[in-house]
Amino acid sequence: MENRIYFRQLLSGRDFATDNPIAQQMVNFVYIIGDRETGEAMLVDPAYEVHELLEILEAEGLRLTGVLATHWHPDHVGGDLMGYPIDGIKELTGMTSVAAPVHIQKPEVEWITRTTGVSVSDLVAHESGDKVMVGDIPVTLIHTPGHTPGSQCFLVDGRLVAGDTLFLDGCGRTDLPGADPDDMYESLTQRLAIVPDSAVLYPGHLYSPESSAKMGDTRQRNYVFKIPSLEQWRMMMGGSF
Ligand SMILES: [Fe+2]
Repeated sequence: MENRIYFRQLLSGRDFATDNPIAQQMVNFVYIIGDRETGEAMLVDPAYEVHELLEILEAEGLRLTGVLATHWHPDHVGGDLMGYPIDGIKELTGMTSVAAPVHIQKPEVEWITRTTGVSVSDLVAHESGDKVMVGDIPVTLIHTPGHTPGSQCFLVDGRLVAGDTLFLDGCGRTDLPGADPDDMYESLTQRLAIVPDSAVLYPGHLYSPESSAKMGDTRQRNYVFKIPSLEQWRMMMGGSF
């Protein structure tokens, strides 16, 4: 599997969309997950200059067969970000000649259609635990509500692509529309408990000096794993984090 999987982390404003000031400011990570043997690939959270992402795939001999979206926020899937238009899955679906459905969790359907303008027929609404195949490589979808109702993480070959659910330091905000601090606590402490310490965490933004870290180290260092009860979590988050 290790030789077969193509996995790449791309930073917005540095590795692509280098002239886009919003991309530079937001420091989003986009991921490519591919099967080198079949040439199939999916993009995780394509946003900003999505045509550049397609060019990168093409240069690597990969073709897009789908999109994996962690959550509905415009810096991850495109849409209007505080008055700034960001390209994303809507523009991407118009650029590809082959069908590249967008895989999301069910509770995120209404949010993603509203934010991006894609139609429901472009989406595949999943349950937690579903597997999406990229060629012969299985990606397990883990529903981790909290940052948004349908936030999800992707577990693929010992890697956790976590979107804004979990960063190396801290977790995603729980004070935005659709967010829920209680759900976030359950997601971090219970739903992500199936992820082994040996897995490598790949977050949705570059908010730490390092761009990835072992889950075991993250569980040791990240304060979100040091809060022993939901009551203390509520006091700390206070809805304003
Ligand atoms: Fe977000």
